[in-house]
Amino acid sequence: MERVLQHGRLLPQLEQALVREFDITRLHEQPEPMAWLARHGAAFSGLVTSARVGADRALLSALPALRVVSSFGVGFDTFDLEALRERGIPLGYTPDVLNDCVADAAFGLLIDVARGVCLADRFVRSGAWERGSFVSTTRVSGKRLGIVGLGRIGRAIARRATGFDMAVRYHNRRPLPDLPQAHEPDLLALARWADFLVLAASAGPGADGMIGAEVLRALGPQGFLINIARGSLVDEAALVAALRDGTIAGAGLDVFAREPDIDPALRALDNVVLMPHAASATRETRADMVALVLENLRGFFASGRVARAVPGTAD
Ligand code: DGY
Repeated sequence: MERVLQHGRLLPQLEQALVREFDITRLHEQPEPMAWLARHGAAFSGLVTSARVGADRALLSALPALRVVSSFGVGFDTFDLEALRERGIPLGYTPDVLNDCVADAAFGLLIDVARGVCLADRFVRSGAWERGSFVSTTRVSGKRLGIVGLGRIGRAIARRATGFDMAVRYHNRRPLPDLPQAHEPDLLALARWADFLVLAASAGPGADGMIGAEVLRALGPQGFLINIARGSLVDEAALVAALRDGTIAGAGLDVFAREPDIDPALRALDNVVLMPHAASATRETRADMVALVLENLRGFFASGRVARAVPGTAD
């Protein structure tokens, strides 16, 4: 059996499947993980982890015999890709299988924050309905949707927008040919145009804080921000200020600068809907992601090929 190191907790069904197929050691269960790794790291040919936990250069350097990494999740901003590329180690991940559920969650947040679903729920539960009527909310259908990052998830969001008769434009590093949606090269112009600005871009050093005070001002007092990508894309202090003083109308957030200990100011605001980084967390999608994590490891050890590897890590 191949010796595989597990870094960080994984879903119980994935952990159970891993121990059936591989000789698994859980790094986080060792009393002093990094000291333990310095003594035993050379024994492992595989590493299994998640997008949330990732693997930095220090961890990868402590695994001199490492040949493959398999990660649960589509994001790879927590991995040191350069360190992996230098050693020709492929990074398996779980794209595509989560597109629909993440896009559904983006629309869930969008409709919720615009129509006040969670707010209305609190209104009814608290008995406030017996004392007065609920506030007027914002129409979703027919509005303008700006998507930042029209990758696989962004395109699934754009498809859903057609059912709401929304006009869609997107901002990407490069315009994509043959798409019906208009490319907007200027992020500020997209924010000014949009009623809803949805973040579906990959995170990374170049994208940190790309949604700052200026973009929020451009989105304006009738505009909503939805983030199902990564908290690091947003200057969160600027977002909290914009939500507080009405610079924007509201936000729907699945991801935050710090998780799970989010900025307490967000909890106190009624114009924000919060999810616990769970956009892909349906039973069906989780099962597909688990299967892909296993397939990526299994395939590599059987044939040297990772079925779904982060581009540039498998060549
Ligand atoms: C992903 O798949 O990257 C999710 O955000 C979970 O981390």
